[in-house]
Amino acid sequence: MRVLHFSDVHLREPAGAVPLRDWLGKRLIGGANLLLGRRHAFDDAPAKVRALDTFRREQDVDLVICTGDYTALGTRGEIQLAREAVEPLTRAPLGYVHVPGNHDLYALDVLRQKRFREHFGDTLATDLPEHLVDGGPWPIVRFAGDDVAVVAVNSARPNPRPWRSNGRIPDEQIEALGRVLADERVRGRFVFVITHYAPRLENGEPDKRLHGLVNADAFLEACRDVSPGAILCGHVHWRYSVRVDGVKPRIFCAGSATKTGVEGLWVFDVEAGRARATPGRWDGDRYVVVEDEAVDVSD
Ligand SMILES: [Fe+2]
Ligand SMILES: [Fe+2]
Repeated sequence: MRVLHFSDVHLREPAGAVPLRDWLGKRLIGGANLLLGRRHAFDDAPAKVRALDTFRREQDVDLVICTGDYTALGTRGEIQLAREAVEPLTRAPLGYVHVPGNHDLYALDVLRQKRFREHFGDTLATDLPEHLVDGGPWPIVRFAGDDVAVVAVNSARPNPRPWRSNGRIPDEQIEALGRVLADERVRGRFVFVITHYAPRLENGEPDKRLHGLVNADAFLEACRDVSPGAILCGHVHWRYSVRVDGVKPRIFCAGSATKTGVEGLWVFDVEAGRARATPGRWDGDRYVVVEDEAVDVSD
């Protein structure tokens, strides 16, 4: 089975299209950062998302996983735009599993209006509803074929304070994750545990407190014995893979699929409980795999 993992496409509306009422507090600052600091970094995001689907078809991908940050400001227009843009990717033969990023739940009004669920609700179904906590839809468990399971927990939350962009997986979800991973129907499969925030950086260290996953240790502890399997994340805008001492599944961060100059993704080939991960990059007009940098997931 072939699995495509991408993240952090950061699609956005032109600044003039964002209604004035949305330009409040953090969004104003975040918007300014995006528009000024990283003004051109995501200019080609819509074309690259289209190219991702071409890549999916060329590579005969069976299942697609996205670890969030579809948007820049999480406005209604952006969420809608993102949903339309990834629609072809959601039609992969064995499905589409994903989580929101912090940019998709940017300010409290987004959560209040349940905007993300409004536009992506039909893609948030779980195969094991008995493990849902907190009114759902997390954790999502999705079986793919006979030997793969994807388990998604949500680490993104609104961050009304502008200097903070960290995330946290609610305790109820960490506990539910433990129960899911111990479930007989999940054990024995190759398990992808997915969330937006990276539990460790490329050097194996935790991310900064104001940018990282606050309860990364609790998350890694819950995943410690997942084997065979892998932890997939985004949020950090470059692609890497890292192993953490005492944690069986290797961490794969997809980076950003669309950020100019650092575009990245991962392709996993899972067979008989083993997996090989091959990085992908953008070569100027299409995504390509980098065969000689492939890693054995179980190493
Ligand atoms: Fe991001
Ligand atoms: Fe993020």
